[in-house]
Amino acid sequence: MSDNRENWSARSGFIIAAIGSAVGLGNIWRFPYVAYENGGGAFLVPYLVAIFAAGLPLLYLDYAVGHKFRKAPPTAYKKLMNAESLGWWQVMVTLIIGIYYASVLSWAGSYMFYSVGQQWGADTQAFFFSSYLQNGEGLTLGFVPTLFAGLVVVWAVVMFILYGGVRRGVELANKIFMPLLVILFTILVIQAVRLPGATDGLNAFFTPNWGAMANYKVWLAAFGHIFFSLSVGFGIMLTYASYLKKKTNLTGSGVVVALANSSFEILAGIGVFAALGFMAHSAGASVQDVVSGGIGLAFIAFPKIISSMGSGGDLFGFLFFASLTVAGITSMVSILQVPIQAFQDKLAWSHKKSVTIVAGGSAVVSTLIFSTHSAITFVDIIDYFANNIGIVGGGLLSIILVSWFRRPLLTQLKEHINQYSSIKLGAGWSFLLTVITPLSLLVALLLTVKSVIAEGYGGYSADILWIVGGATIAVFVLGAIGLSCMKDKESGEN
Ligand code: ALA
Repeated sequence: MSDNRENWSARSGFIIAAIGSAVGLGNIWRFPYVAYENGGGAFLVPYLVAIFAAGLPLLYLDYAVGHKFRKAPPTAYKKLMNAESLGWWQVMVTLIIGIYYASVLSWAGSYMFYSVGQQWGADTQAFFFSSYLQNGEGLTLGFVPTLFAGLVVVWAVVMFILYGGVRRGVELANKIFMPLLVILFTILVIQAVRLPGATDGLNAFFTPNWGAMANYKVWLAAFGHIFFSLSVGFGIMLTYASYLKKKTNLTGSGVVVALANSSFEILAGIGVFAALGFMAHSAGASVQDVVSGGIGLAFIAFPKIISSMGSGGDLFGFLFFASLTVAGITSMVSILQVPIQAFQDKLAWSHKKSVTIVAGGSAVVSTLIFSTHSAITFVDIIDYFANNIGIVGGGLLSIILVSWFRRPLLTQLKEHINQYSSIKLGAGWSFLLTVITPLSLLVALLLTVKSVIAEGYGGYSADILWIVGGATIAVFVLGAIGLSCMKDKESGEN
């Protein structure tokens, strides 16, 4: 086993980086709008079920595989059960997520500045779509300079951190950014819940609408979201666990990470819904009526709320978008670390070479696609396919291969994880991973496929949906097959 592999300075370094990865755009940007679109308070029930039935069991599987083999997904799955292509599938998912994640991150960064003086004016929807994104009809590929500039800055910052390596880059950035995020976000939520009307928003968020739960799509959304949110099933936690020392309490770390992630997510929901309540109160309308959900919630509803606060809103806006940016950077770094480490492990590239080729290449593709008039269409469709098919499919495959087809491996992984852990995994974990998690994921995946074929998604025309979504899936499949045919280069540096 190579042991010039980098590692975390201590378990606390890993935990903070793992929380930094988990807490990201998923918590602040994605969770409130997914919850809003899926019944508000009703969403919390499937969400909690998804955490216990699938999120945590898979988190421990990721930890066990990464920690036992001390490699990124392709090499780790190859060593575990000769399933390198599964690892490359997960790497492809991170590459795809990385390129659109940078785009949303750049919007958040730009809005941090637009908050000062509330530059979006009275019509926040028109500002977002027409002035900022310069959104075109259908797929329009012309160049939008402001989007380009934002993307260049995001990629420069992320690559700078990645060049620093595991300890001096990823760990250090998390140690700076995560406390900053906690401070920014706490001030934000305290401000939000003190707004007039906040309770109405919180009621909408917390009151379960049992009717919505009868809709299977609400369950799909919960399962699709939890993996993205916890950073499991697509190689991140596996790769981060590969930098841990041998004697590590893995289960204890997992509980801390999952708890921190969900607390942050619920806190974000509280902040966003309190602010929606305030907006409803000012408009004399009900919370359900003040804003349409969807991807623009953070960039349309929030600016509107900020504007209705008068000049004090500038600070509120700045705090919100700065939190989004800071949380997003630490997650973006973790997403990119997966392909960077995968190529290092497979081809024995130096760290610098891998960052330059993998992150540099992603930066070019990301900048080309997301500086266009169709940035938001690409983000929305790619996010849907990457989460509901890419992550769910890859996670499902890893579980089925281990717990259905290579059963003794499950026992070995359990023993490995239990060796130094405070909470011991027992028959419950095996049962969840053998029955509940794979079946729930299988159903989720089949229903997604059925729904997207029968009804499409997001009101996009079939052409656009299948060009963008089909290309996303093609990247997963071709990457998984093609890259696993490469010959390993175990030692030496190029
Ligand atoms: N877990 C990361 C997020 O929630 C990817 O944004």
